[in-house]
Amino acid sequence: MVSISLINVTKTFGDVVANDNLSLQIEEGELFTLLGPSGCGKTTTLRIIAGFYYPDEGSVFFDDQDVTRLPPEKRGTGMVFQNYALWPHMSVFDNIAYGLKIRKTPKDVIQQEVKNALDLVQLGGLESRTPFQLSGGQQQRVALARALVIQPRVLLLDEPLSNLDAKLRLEMRQEITRIQKKLEITTVYVTHDQEEALSISNRIAVQRNGIIQQIDSPQQIYTNPKNAFVADFIGQCSFIYGTVQDIHQYIAIETDVGIHLKARKTFDLKQGDSVLCAIRPENFSITKPEEEYNVLDCEVLTVLFLGKSNRVHAKVGDLRLIAELPTDVNVASGDTITLYVTVDETTVLPFKK
Ligand SMILES: Nc1ncnc2c1ncn2[C@@H]1O[C@H](COP(=O)(O)OP(=O)(O)OP(=O)(O)O)[C@@H](O)[C@H]1O
Ligand SMILES: [Mg+2]
Repeated sequence: MVSISLINVTKTFGDVVANDNLSLQIEEGELFTLLGPSGCGKTTTLRIIAGFYYPDEGSVFFDDQDVTRLPPEKRGTGMVFQNYALWPHMSVFDNIAYGLKIRKTPKDVIQQEVKNALDLVQLGGLESRTPFQLSGGQQQRVALARALVIQPRVLLLDEPLSNLDAKLRLEMRQEITRIQKKLEITTVYVTHDQEEALSISNRIAVQRNGIIQQIDSPQQIYTNPKNAFVADFIGQCSFIYGTVQDIHQYIAIETDVGIHLKARKTFDLKQGDSVLCAIRPENFSITKPEEEYNVLDCEVLTVLFLGKSNRVHAKVGDLRLIAELPTDVNVASGDTITLYVTVDETTVLPFKK
């Protein structure tokens, strides 16, 4: 097992700064996810770890070894590319065996290792097919087997599930976590799908414009986002601008729409600071909570049936709120409703006007 450190890594392409002074530490055996919108620099970070790109500045370490300028084949990484990149004219067997052949592995060992890799991804029996004769999910498994067969020290996965349908994506998520745990292999997983990131990762780095916004466990990222970008990118939020009025055991805020809110104390704030209150849709309710709460009287704009809940868009003056309410709550557009949220679930974020 190996740990990975990126220290002050910068990589530019012309005017584009794909990685901007990026530092992160990935622990051995960890499933670490790089999450962010398209173009934020995720693939660039992964390619720098693999050695396909060298950084303009900064260094990359595998444990204590400086690998910054080490070519990819000497790093012991296995990579699944964003589009799988299987060789279309080669059989499944040859696709998977390729990395072993170029390492001059004896034939009988190749036979055994490819069989083990196919068993691991549950594709035994399909070795003579070509990629054209496989479904998307099967191709994805071949790409994973090809990356694993060389017994890499590090597994790099670039949006491996993005081409699969929703159901298969869920199945493959479980497959990947099962294999990762079984092999205890340090894994860097790239995705722009926040739900995927939350469900599989030990830790997540949220990236934006080449800059890391927050590195934390899925629970921390979701419940204690460090800024509005993270709060909004990881699940939805209703945002309410305001100013800190007072600080007691909670933070008292006067919002720009005239409502007074109390929020859980998180950041080091003082009276007069501009803030953004963030509330998750599922934290609104139409019944009074037992703990300390905030009240928002609002007008319902739309109600969307989502199967297990209703997503309710509402407004308070110019302010828009999104609440997730049980389907047995009878609300329709035009209704006036009172929404409650506990102080503990009212997050406050620093905000520069
Ligand atoms: N080889 C390259 N030449 C020029 N610009 C590049 C190159 N590779 C990446 N970029 C630019 O660097 C930025 C980051 O790209 P990168 O591929 O790392 O993003 P990403 O987060 O993986 O995006 P996506 O989710 O769309 O795959 C983008 O603006 C991209 O256009
Ligand atoms: Mg990418």
